Amino acid sequence: MKSETGDAIAVIDFGSQYSQLIVRRIREAHVYAELISHSAPSEEVAELQPKGFVLSGGPASVYDDHAPSLPQYTLESGLPILGICYGMQLLAHRFGGVVGRAEKREYGPAELNISDLSRPLFAGLPFSQSVWMSHGDRIEDLPPGFRALAYTANSPLAAMGNEVRQFYGLQFHPEVSHTPHGAGIIANFVHRICGCKPTWTPRSIIQRSVAHIRAQVGSKKVLCALSGGVDSTVTATLMRRAIGDQLTCIFVDHGLLREGEVERNVDLFERQLALSVIHVDASHRFLRRLKGVVDPEQKRRIIGEEFIRVFEEQAQKLGPIEYLAQGTLYPDVIESAGADTKVAARIKTHHNVGGLPSRMAFSLVEPLRYLFKDEVRQVGLELGLSEDVVYRHPFPGPGLAVRIVGEVTEERVAMVRDADRIVMEEIERAWLYRDIWQCFAVLTPMKSVGVMGDERTYEHVVAVRAVTSEDGMTADWAPLPPEVLGRISNRIVNEVSGVNRVVYDVTSKPPSTIEWE
Ligand code: XMP
Repeated sequence: MKSETGDAIAVIDFGSQYSQLIVRRIREAHVYAELISHSAPSEEVAELQPKGFVLSGGPASVYDDHAPSLPQYTLESGLPILGICYGMQLLAHRFGGVVGRAEKREYGPAELNISDLSRPLFAGLPFSQSVWMSHGDRIEDLPPGFRALAYTANSPLAAMGNEVRQFYGLQFHPEVSHTPHGAGIIANFVHRICGCKPTWTPRSIIQRSVAHIRAQVGSKKVLCALSGGVDSTVTATLMRRAIGDQLTCIFVDHGLLREGEVERNVDLFERQLALSVIHVDASHRFLRRLKGVVDPEQKRRIIGEEFIRVFEEQAQKLGPIEYLAQGTLYPDVIESAGADTKVAARIKTHHNVGGLPSRMAFSLVEPLRYLFKDEVRQVGLELGLSEDVVYRHPFPGPGLAVRIVGEVTEERVAMVRDADRIVMEEIERAWLYRDIWQCFAVLTPMKSVGVMGDERTYEHVVAVRAVTSEDGMTADWAPLPPEVLGRISNRIVNEVSGVNRVVYDVTSKPPSTIEWE
């Protein structure tokens, strides 16, 4: 996105689990921000033309042998800097303050008292507020030129600032929701201290995105993979707005979709979006290639590769097509590739990013590559898509294959599809759909003993999962009402043959992921 985005902030990532949240909070203040690895070359930052830096937290101690250091360009730029947790410690250490080795971590809520409310960082916020602490080391002595701005019972130097150089540090985490006024602190930094204008809005995202697509694609033709999910639907709508008839959409049925999905999608594309879509039924070839495969990463790679092969074949029929449009989101880019930030570990190969085969006949257009899910939804509404489409639960590209632990067979797909339909029906019937991020059934390879009628049974265990989340990066298991769980369980064991036990997944992400594979 870079320079067409208006004012921007660079968030330098030192490996905190909250780094992406910092970016989101800045964007919620209507200022564009990007996460940049602390080890990225300075040119990457220069391209963004930031008006300030935020240094994230991280697991290191400034005293560690290989502790990540403060990139020189941040100091040379003369721009404002806000260091959070480890970021604050780096600033203090660099300018001659004393960072104390912690004997034990401070983790949890604390009451912050602000020394002087006239300071721009805390302007308009309450004098005393609850904040979230999660740190080991802490600042014992301020560096020369800095003054204390706030304190808690355990951290006498919970916030510091050098208002001449515009360097600030916070020991607590303003980016997490457990710091209720944290968004206000971050907004103060980007607006009052960095002077950024609030230009990052759904309307401006659309304008910039359309301009960007036109500049990238020119008069070439583009193929768009439509799945019916919010990401690909927003992608196709944006592409259509940008390049009109140069766009051809393809909907590939890999045979791993939910019940009724094919009909629903065809209706959505043709009736609601007036897009002409080529519908390819490729279910047999996907199932054939998945035969005997149990490894989750291999499943993902095979499905990703097969998708591209189908597109290539269609493209050949359509004549020369240069580009493939995909609804890749910013968290996918960070989590999968590890390319934009070398700190994040590879968790899963999301098929629309890391699983792409290296031999691919298309260049990619990814208009959502720098957007979070909630931003995509806002853009979708601004584009006039219905709430039904915009607030659809996410569904993974590899579909039901990653909800079948073990080999994917036609019979198992049918079982998990049936169970999934029941989960969805009961969630909708209880009016819970909009309260949760995702809900689904997982077919486990585990069998257990049961009794039906007077007969012993030995059948599959189905796990039901429902989570709440803001962006899919972290998630909590949803405390569904017992009567809803009871109805789901009762119906699955009665209606899905081959299943005699239902369990509810009560793990959050982390340490689990949302999907089981
Ligand atoms: P995990 O399982 O990584 O999932 O916690 C986070 C979110 O991403 C979705 N997901 C995918 N989406 N292609 C996608 O487009 C994929 O390969 C894929 N894998 C997981 C998942 O449903 C959840 O919303």
